[in-house]
Amino acid sequence: MAIVLTGDRPTGKLHLGHYAGSLISRKVLQDQHTQYIMIADTQALTDNASDAAKVTTNVYELAADYLAVGLDKSTIFIQSQVPAISELAIYYLNLVSIARLQRNPTVKSEIQQKGYSEDLPAGFLCYPVSQAADITSVRADIVPAGSDQMPMIEQTNEIVRKFNRLYNSEYLKEASIYLSAVPRLTGLDGKAKMSKSLGNAIYLADEPEEIKRKVFLMFTDPDHLKASDPGRVEGNVVFTYLDAFHSDTEYVAELKAHYQRGGLGDVTIKNILNDRLQQIIGPIRERRAQLSKDMIYEKLLEGTQKVQLIAQQTVEEVKAAMGLNYFKKY
Ligand code: TRP
Repeated sequence: MAIVLTGDRPTGKLHLGHYAGSLISRKVLQDQHTQYIMIADTQALTDNASDAAKVTTNVYELAADYLAVGLDKSTIFIQSQVPAISELAIYYLNLVSIARLQRNPTVKSEIQQKGYSEDLPAGFLCYPVSQAADITSVRADIVPAGSDQMPMIEQTNEIVRKFNRLYNSEYLKEASIYLSAVPRLTGLDGKAKMSKSLGNAIYLADEPEEIKRKVFLMFTDPDHLKASDPGRVEGNVVFTYLDAFHSDTEYVAELKAHYQRGGLGDVTIKNILNDRLQQIIGPIRERRAQLSKDMIYEKLLEGTQKVQLIAQQTVEEVKAAMGLNYFKKY
């Protein structure tokens, strides 16, 4: 049994891209390991300080999504409510140079995307350090995440090694990333990854008619005008989604062959995909409807209190290694 820590920034509801890319594997991991799932509100504030309400309202939405999907065997907690994480981050900040932070490829591209220059928030530049605090606070061995998180794990492990070396300690542990095997799901338009900001996502909280409407908006093959025409499967979003979400791969292969030969219309394949997505999202919607606000907050409180104790223990060990345990020497 390993200790697993993963998390998301609460900046929006979860969509099918999250479902394929991380939620399914978290469901498997929670049965095999001790899994912590962190709602990274502190991290989300590093680039949303002027819109704190966006972050705080989405904490609840994210927790509802987790529980609706069935992640109830994991310990779900809220980052900002674990002060030991912030405390760890303060000490780790001394182990990292500004130049090293500026070289972090993920942070670098996010800075570019968001158009930051002189106005770059210091907290944003330093969020990989706070992420090292997240990971080490529960002494995680494994961090399931996308490849964009690889630089964060590398930085975490550099901090761990530097800490252990400087303070002659063996307390902190390095973590390894557990990469998702599923490629990033494209959006409905087929142009980019599914994302809230691009408006091309199907949400786990969408109503049945909304899902259907979105499936019928999907990009297929612009040259496939009549059902009898041969159609293209590459770049055809309906087939991308059938590959990602239909368990019967032989059936999907037959559909593809038929589409390529001609004689299979877009309406038919869209109906097939819609049925499949309704089958997946239906039970999630039902479970969500059974969750009350109280149940969600109770679960969050229980998980958060559990992590508070663990992280407090970690920060005390860390401070002791640095000699910051003045009152324990008597
Ligand atoms: N940076 C992650 C993201 O943007 C979220 C996150 C914060 C995280 N802390 C973490 C992920 C710790 C894994 C482990 O998706």
